[in-house]
Amino acid sequence: MVSKERGLAANGLFLLFLIFPILFTKVECNDNLRVAYEWKQIDFNYPSEEQRQQAIDSKEFIAANVIPLGLEVYRSRLFVTLPRWKGGVPASLAYLDLNDNTTKSPRLTPFPSWQAHRLSSDDPPEIVSPFRIRADKCGRLWVLDTGVADILGNTTVLRPTTLLVYDLHNDNLLRRFPFTSGLTKQDTFFANIAVEDGDCMDTFVYCGDLGASGLVVYSWKQQDAWRVNHNYFHPDPLAGNYSIDGISFQWDDGLFGLAISKQQPDGYATLYFHPLSSTMEFSVSTMILRNKTKATSNDIYKEFKILGSRGPNAQAGASFLDQLTGVLFYALPNLNAVACWKTSNRAYTIKSQGRVYMSSTEMVFPNDIKVDDQDRLWVLSDRLHKYMYAELDSNDVNFRILTAHVQEAIENTACDTKTKPLPDIINRLGDILRPTQTSPSSAPSLQSFGIYSLILSLVLGTRFMATM
Ligand SMILES: *[C@@H]1O[C@H](CO)[C@@H](O)[C@H](O)[C@H]1NC(C)=O
Ligand SMILES: *[C@@H]1O[C@H](CO)[C@@H](O)[C@H](O)[C@H]1NC(C)=O
Ligand SMILES: *[C@@H]1O[C@H](CO)[C@@H](O)[C@H](O)[C@H]1NC(C)=O
Ligand SMILES: *[C@@H]1O[C@H](CO)[C@@H](O)[C@H](O)[C@H]1NC(C)=O
Repeated sequence: MVSKERGLAANGLFLLFLIFPILFTKVECNDNLRVAYEWKQIDFNYPSEEQRQQAIDSKEFIAANVIPLGLEVYRSRLFVTLPRWKGGVPASLAYLDLNDNTTKSPRLTPFPSWQAHRLSSDDPPEIVSPFRIRADKCGRLWVLDTGVADILGNTTVLRPTTLLVYDLHNDNLLRRFPFTSGLTKQDTFFANIAVEDGDCMDTFVYCGDLGASGLVVYSWKQQDAWRVNHNYFHPDPLAGNYSIDGISFQWDDGLFGLAISKQQPDGYATLYFHPLSSTMEFSVSTMILRNKTKATSNDIYKEFKILGSRGPNAQAGASFLDQLTGVLFYALPNLNAVACWKTSNRAYTIKSQGRVYMSSTEMVFPNDIKVDDQDRLWVLSDRLHKYMYAELDSNDVNFRILTAHVQEAIENTACDTKTKPLPDIINRLGDILRPTQTSPSSAPSLQSFGIYSLILSLVLGTRFMATM
């Protein structure tokens, strides 16, 4: 995953002054999310203050090592995952009570219990280290557990990747499905999950393997799973550069963002997906994925569709599709932004995307996105790059959960039905500045990436009023 190098933030600023007058029209920003929760460090609800102190003294709980990554909302509970990147994570899945409005920095309660997270020398805990989770409309919580502890230290595989399913009515474990050898490969790492819950008894679950670039489909009814391969699951070797907040690094993660549409007239949904180190978005009908024979055959290559590119520097992380509006939301870690795209839009280009929220304080490393059953958008940002490659400042707010109603979030963006198209000038400007594609060996420099990201942020960040 990792090679690291510090510094060299984009410095195409002087060029911005050249570009800006051309773009200079009346602009309007959106950024309609509000910070609902924020933490400098995560803390837990222990049965007693003595037990909490004991955990701290014995280094079972090291606050500096705990970082929230995935989120989910079901009824009055907001769940977060707390992967075991380093030692001292006492529980890797926990929740807060949405009805408790006494604090913006609540302590978290382990789910389903403290017992389920207890590390002991003989037996791995029930839940080892999940990255992302999904609550379906049937009241089940799907936990995709990597089974790996201490990822950044002495990486220890405590279990194979396992799909755990809990009943959120009583928090009982309904089912446990370990991924056997046919479903995994060397370098396998499963971080993302999408659930097609059109039928509670015939639910399908899609798990993205970012390490070995594959998709595992699980059928609730058949209690069976199969692995699907496709070239589109692989990272783009030229899209592995990341530069956030002055920290530069390279990642080569494959299949990552997974988002399920509502059921189409043919009875199937569309799975929208992208690798992390890539700027492309793709889709496939679940008709192809749900049939094990078909999905594992060699005849499905052409069933996968290329939607388009978000533009340079727009590698996307977690994504989620709001079934009510058909709007796809996704995180853009390189741009400190969350953006959106209307799935009814035929074009998937730089200018067909909307900026939902962009901020170099509140949105530094947006890491998960969900829409709950009341059509509220939730976004978690956590400065993961700083946690991994530098150190989080415990005097600073490091983790935030932002929220807004979907309609407010997309208001005045390209995803709002009322918005007029952007003027052509953006496209033409993009053409002028795009480096010539004639020589494949001449990769654009970081500087030109910086300029692209500025252009993209202007496009994402502004709605050009058609008033001239
Ligand atoms: C907190 O919730 C209570 C009861 O739900 C409500 O009466 C009160 O106004 C709320 N306080 C704030 C600050 O929102
Ligand atoms: C990793 O494990 C080895 C041997 O068990 C130990 O010597 C070393 O200190 C550990 N490193 C960390 C970072 O925990
Ligand atoms: C990635 O960044 C490095 C410098 O950090 C640069 O040498 C390399 O050309 C970049 N790669 C691409 C594909 O832009
Ligand atoms: C699954 O796909 C295979 C191969 O394409 C096809 O022969 C079979 O009829 C399909 N099964 C179902 C239940 O649709």
